[in-house]
Amino acid sequence: MKKAILFDLDGVLLSTDELHYAAWKSVADELGIRFDRQVNNRLRGVSRMASLEIILQHGGMTLSSEEKEAVAARKNDRYRALLMTLSPDSVAPEVRETLAALKARGLKLAVGSSSKNTKLILAQTDLGCCFDAVSDGTNISRSKPDPEVFLKAAAFLGLDPADCAVVEDAVAGIDAANAGGFLSIGIGDAADYEKADRQINSLSELLSLKSLF
Ligand code: BG6
Ligand code: MG
Repeated sequence: MKKAILFDLDGVLLSTDELHYAAWKSVADELGIRFDRQVNNRLRGVSRMASLEIILQHGGMTLSSEEKEAVAARKNDRYRALLMTLSPDSVAPEVRETLAALKARGLKLAVGSSSKNTKLILAQTDLGCCFDAVSDGTNISRSKPDPEVFLKAAAFLGLDPADCAVVEDAVAGIDAANAGGFLSIGIGDAADYEKADRQINSLSELLSLKSLF
């Protein structure tokens, strides 16, 4: 029986992982680096600057720290422009219904995301009110696979990791959840990750997951 569920944001609650992909792809194209979904999957859960390092390493390219800052800022400007197209309709009905049903069963709900754009996304989509706590890229110093973002979310809720489950689409996110002592639940790209304690194909499957109730 768990007392709370911590949700990753990009790629779990919303398809913003696709917007990250589009923004990184346009920047990588300009740098002349071939960027595809396989490389993109390695960026899931990873911070903005760590993502850029992965892309540069993939392209065999070195940049000065000033150049890296400029490229990361360009990517974020494009990403935020795409985020402006989000609205409450961008949230799948299944997501809202599942969150409401979990809440009705007495579970606390929190967001645990590496993104510094989390609060903008929650505001654009009217999702903020669904959660009892939000831990994001603005309150951590170490990104996933470090468990910090989830440990902070649990602390915000006043709960121990053992009382919480984490839902993640990122391999780095499942590693973070496991490292922090949470029950890890893989979805999307992490649905077939062998280190995930549980695997689901769709968010509503949480409602019939025995280990939660
Ligand atoms: C995570 C995404 O949620 O946030 C990563 O999965 C992204 O792909 C990271 O790099 C940081 O996001 P942002 O919005 O702060 O650049
Ligand atoms: Mg994600």
